[in-house]
Amino acid sequence: MAGPLFATKSLEQLTSEAADTEHGLKRTLGPLNLTTLGVGAIIGAGIFVLTGQAAAQYAGPAIVLSFVVSGIGCAFAGLCYAEFASMIPIAGSAYTYAYATLGEFLAWIIGWDLILEYLFGASTVAVGWSGYVVSFFKDFGINIPAYLASAPLNVGTHGGIVTTGAFLNLPAMFIIAVITVLLVIGIRESAGFNNIIVIVKVAVILLFVGFGIAYIHHSNWVPFIPPNKGSFGEFGWSGILRGAGVIFFAYIGFDAVSTTAQEAKNPQKDMPVGIMGSLGISTILYIVVALVLTGLVSYKELLVPDPMAVGIDAAGPGLFWLRPLVKIGAIAGLSSVVLVMLLGQPRIFYSMAKDGLLPPKFGAVHPKFRTPYITTIVTGTVAMIVAGLFPIGILGELVSIGTLLAFAIVSLGVLVMRYTKPDVHRPFKTPWVPVVPILGALLSAAQMVGLPLDTWYRLIVWMLIGFIIYFFYSRKHSKVRLANGTNK
Ligand code: ALA
Repeated sequence: MAGPLFATKSLEQLTSEAADTEHGLKRTLGPLNLTTLGVGAIIGAGIFVLTGQAAAQYAGPAIVLSFVVSGIGCAFAGLCYAEFASMIPIAGSAYTYAYATLGEFLAWIIGWDLILEYLFGASTVAVGWSGYVVSFFKDFGINIPAYLASAPLNVGTHGGIVTTGAFLNLPAMFIIAVITVLLVIGIRESAGFNNIIVIVKVAVILLFVGFGIAYIHHSNWVPFIPPNKGSFGEFGWSGILRGAGVIFFAYIGFDAVSTTAQEAKNPQKDMPVGIMGSLGISTILYIVVALVLTGLVSYKELLVPDPMAVGIDAAGPGLFWLRPLVKIGAIAGLSSVVLVMLLGQPRIFYSMAKDGLLPPKFGAVHPKFRTPYITTIVTGTVAMIVAGLFPIGILGELVSIGTLLAFAIVSLGVLVMRYTKPDVHRPFKTPWVPVVPILGALLSAAQMVGLPLDTWYRLIVWMLIGFIIYFFYSRKHSKVRLANGTNK
């Protein structure tokens, strides 16, 4: 069972742990709720903010093609997630799958990597929230000065961190603080509340598309693929790939459906429906929004915190009525994504602490509120600092690269498991194995390659920090290792 780095947790162990906690979690979610849950977690800063920025900087109108490439990659990875989620239907998601299949070290890598997805993801979306809030208040004559609502740090033209003269992004810090407090005292997003936010979000997007279409200037789509400017990733085909890596952020969240496996009525059947359904709906919405947005206004104008509002402005007075609606939709929608992410991160810390890979304190539950309050406060505080200091572009790219790495490992995990444990019951099977998992891993890797080199450096530094913690702490305290005596 255990090579020095590859101790695995047995499926029986996982299933019995699931049975153990089962009485705590009610199985209430059906296929429709799982799909809306996915859409609630998916649609956020990616479409409302990053689409415009990626079009302006990397792909032009061809950002539409970036969405297609990234969507296909996610569909492959999503099918792999679905196989795992139906086979190991317990909370913990990719971290747990890796522990069962690829061993503890890779599980640690994924768990550490998921911090980039959830914690840094929450910061990224909070910065997007801040952009729309500032823009919303401005429409009512209330000006929040830029130095109080933007990042004091940025990356200079030659790499390296530079200061911008701003103080802090206070609105972004505010939303994280409020949601953290709510989560500590135990106000969880209920499925009903989530459904309302999803309806608002999707309605606003449909209004934008339905009414925006009449104001499109076809000249904005020419050239559809602006010529490359001389370096990799700046427009042209490589720009489409870089755009895909950046807007991949917009798809993140469908994997959150898998973390609710223990609350699903019929996880075997409904997990794949929830995952693929929410992914399909979001892909279609993203492609049409990207088409309309780049048709309303030249992509060059879209490097702003509120690109959809800029698109509406370009349409002229006929669409002004839509301005406040889009902003309210964005603000509500982004709040719910921040909430999902700040809710997800402590659960992962919790699972890791229960396995002994993080200090037991991380598994502590508040005596009165019954919430994992220490991890929630740690997550909220760090996310708040990160959101206050950095701009959305840097954060979004870091979240994308981290999550792409997790997707690649999960895809390969499905493949490994088919060979190492061919007889385990798989209620949902990824079709066309090995093609789908291999393509899932390859497309994830390709999008990682598309991302700027600086983002790679940041990922490597993050992983090195993770390795140090693993070798100096987690390995020695791992419960699986303590049980089989390989923790020395
Ligand atoms: N997909 C989520 C968003 O775009 C993370 O905000």
